[in-house]
Amino acid sequence: MPMEGKERKIEFPKGFLWGAATSAHQVEGGNVNDWSEWEKKNAEHLASEAKNKWQEWQQEKFPEMFDPQNYVSGRACDHYNRYEEDLDIAKSLGLNAFRISIEWSRIEPEEGKFDEREIEHYRKVIQAIRERGMEPFVCLWHYTLPLWLAEKKGILNKRFPEYFARYSRYIVKNLGDICKFWVTLNEPSVVISHSYIEGIRPPEKKNLWLAWRVYKKMMGAHNLSYRYIKEISEKNQIGFANHIKYFEPYGRNSTLDSLVVRVAGYFGNWIFYGLSKNKNDFIALQYYFRFRLKFPRRMINENKELTDLGWEVFPKGIYYLLKEINKRYSFPIYILENGLADAKDKKREKFIKDHLRWIHKAIQEGVDVRGYFHWSLLDNFEWDKGFWPRFGLVEMDYKTLERKIRPSAWEYAKICKENAVNL
Ligand code: BGC
Repeated sequence: MPMEGKERKIEFPKGFLWGAATSAHQVEGGNVNDWSEWEKKNAEHLASEAKNKWQEWQQEKFPEMFDPQNYVSGRACDHYNRYEEDLDIAKSLGLNAFRISIEWSRIEPEEGKFDEREIEHYRKVIQAIRERGMEPFVCLWHYTLPLWLAEKKGILNKRFPEYFARYSRYIVKNLGDICKFWVTLNEPSVVISHSYIEGIRPPEKKNLWLAWRVYKKMMGAHNLSYRYIKEISEKNQIGFANHIKYFEPYGRNSTLDSLVVRVAGYFGNWIFYGLSKNKNDFIALQYYFRFRLKFPRRMINENKELTDLGWEVFPKGIYYLLKEINKRYSFPIYILENGLADAKDKKREKFIKDHLRWIHKAIQEGVDVRGYFHWSLLDNFEWDKGFWPRFGLVEMDYKTLERKIRPSAWEYAKICKENAVNL
């Protein structure tokens, strides 16, 4: 590894993919789906709940959290109309890969009726990604459901796997000539925990039995759509995006804490590969934080280095996870999300470099990591938290829709262009 003065340069494998990730509902604007309906119904109470939910420093820094409008995605970043401008920014940052998601409710607004104009829209978007020298990664489902499906029990509908696979097949038949990497589902574990165990996101259920059924339905949907997509062409590369948490025992020598960690790791991370064993071409890892588990409590946060959301920054966790994945599976790995809410952009550069340092170490030790996608290109609509958390490499002025590239984004750009990090 070349050393220059105090600076250390770590180089990534040739052809490594440097990307940023987005999702349709969080940036496009103008969507009508189960989330947009839920937002309208819940904006008032989410705003009034903020007082109990967030720490004083967060309330002072982000008074937008008390405004009901914060919780309505509305026109978001208007990315649906401004995607070319956004992709120009991505290109100027030297990215060679880009992740989007397709909004199911646009493609199939009524059961079984597919909208060709919308497919055409996404064709233009994917082409625009390619024309700018980036490899598209397309996610088929990032949390939102068309209304017709939400009205008939959504994921719990008996036929959910068929509905999803039929929609996936339609997409890949129409867009498979310009895209090879397909992500079926985004973070099944997050859907299960937030929507069916904690009940804080639509459809707000708190029922372990339903959570179990949702798990089976989602993995059934992944498996069937894997089959359909492969039938179209063997060349298609398919995975689902897994929110993989680093669970750590609070007491290093505590057998109970270690046991809890094993159980949490199984149900939180690995169970999803059990049902989709031979139906993955790659592992899509999304990493945000660690959980320290102390029996019988869930999480102890030492409050050392925090993001605006109060999430602990723990870069080494990604290294441990990569090593563990490598022990368990032999698929190539793409890190399809990793990022932080940091409105002042004080921590983002270090966050990125520290995570990359650990990713690089894993690669050097033989782990087959092929790409890193930062979450996110733009500030965007952070689901039940609304617009105040700022995850973007690019800052959004939601009033004027002006985009401003943050300083950390230029640092990320250097990394992408050099395929290396100067530490
Ligand atoms: C989700 C994104 C979300 C991000 C930050 C990921 O779990 O896929 O939609 O914005 O985390 O919370």
